Amino acid sequence: MADRLKNKIAIITGAGTRGEITGIGQASAVLMAKEGAKILINDIDVKRAKSTLEQVKSEGGEGVVFIADCTKENGCKAIVDKCKKHFGSIDILFNNVGGIGSGMVTEIDEKSWLNSIDYNLKSAVMMSKHVVPIMSESMGGSIINLSSIDAIRAGATRNVPYSVAKAGVSHLTRLMAVHHGRENIRVNCLAPGHVYGSFPNLRGKMTEELRELRRKTGPLGSEGTPWDVAWAVVFLASEESRWISGTVIPVDAGVHAASPLSVWDNLNE
Ligand SMILES: NC(=O)c1ccc[n+]([C@@H]2O[C@H](COP(=O)([O-])OP(=O)(O)OC[C@H]3O[C@@H](n4cnc5c(N)ncnc54)[C@H](O)[C@@H]3O)[C@@H](O)[C@H]2O)c1
Repeated sequence: MADRLKNKIAIITGAGTRGEITGIGQASAVLMAKEGAKILINDIDVKRAKSTLEQVKSEGGEGVVFIADCTKENGCKAIVDKCKKHFGSIDILFNNVGGIGSGMVTEIDEKSWLNSIDYNLKSAVMMSKHVVPIMSESMGGSIINLSSIDAIRAGATRNVPYSVAKAGVSHLTRLMAVHHGRENIRVNCLAPGHVYGSFPNLRGKMTEELRELRRKTGPLGSEGTPWDVAWAVVFLASEESRWISGTVIPVDAGVHAASPLSVWDNLNE
């Protein structure tokens, strides 16, 4: 165990994994615990949450599972109340939950649009609403939101609700950083790229060919994993980033910096 987050209390929403591969929230729980934080592991699914708790414990860390739906305000309030009661304070909030939302504007229906906004954006808003006053009372904290490369440029799949909701998460980050800076609350956001992780691999859609194409698209030419994102989460949660707030940081092997033609040679390598 290292001590970059020693004595810190963290909440991670959706800290399990929907697939067979480690989730970003799950990897973050393990790394934060290794760095000394105590973790409230939230998920909607008890088996997934307990699997993360086991991994945290096997690294010598400490955590507690709390099952709640963080797309609902009462679920968010319950998560925050549980953390305060169990650990006494909250220093770090990682708004990890997100995912669904496919289709072009001509294809989406009202229900799937609202579901995507609730899942990706409302969850982060409502968690923050209930965490900010507690951080404010206790001299500050770090909130980390999770956007996506799809919120920076049009992605490979046509996913208007997801991309727009994630763009909302990026801007929510800037607004909260400005509104709560004087309460010593830092708010930052990560925008993962083509990570070989849990939800892109669901339903067996990720063929080896597509995986290879995603790898080649990145200027670095290597494949990203949930652990790459989780290390950035640890950095933003720690005092090492004490003067960083209001940023949206891509974790994407440089994809956001490239135009399609600029990586043409890489695609044909
Ligand atoms: N994996 C990637 O390539 C990638 C890329 C960009 C952004 N992201 C973002 O990373 C985040 C995590 O994705 P992932 O693929 O690592 O994990 P995931 O999609 O497998 O989900 C993690 C957990 O969230 C839980 N969950 C679902 N709904 C919930 C709810 N309402 N309340 C509480 N928990 C709930 C699930 O049970 C699951 O255990 C998402 O916000 C996603 O948009 C992922």
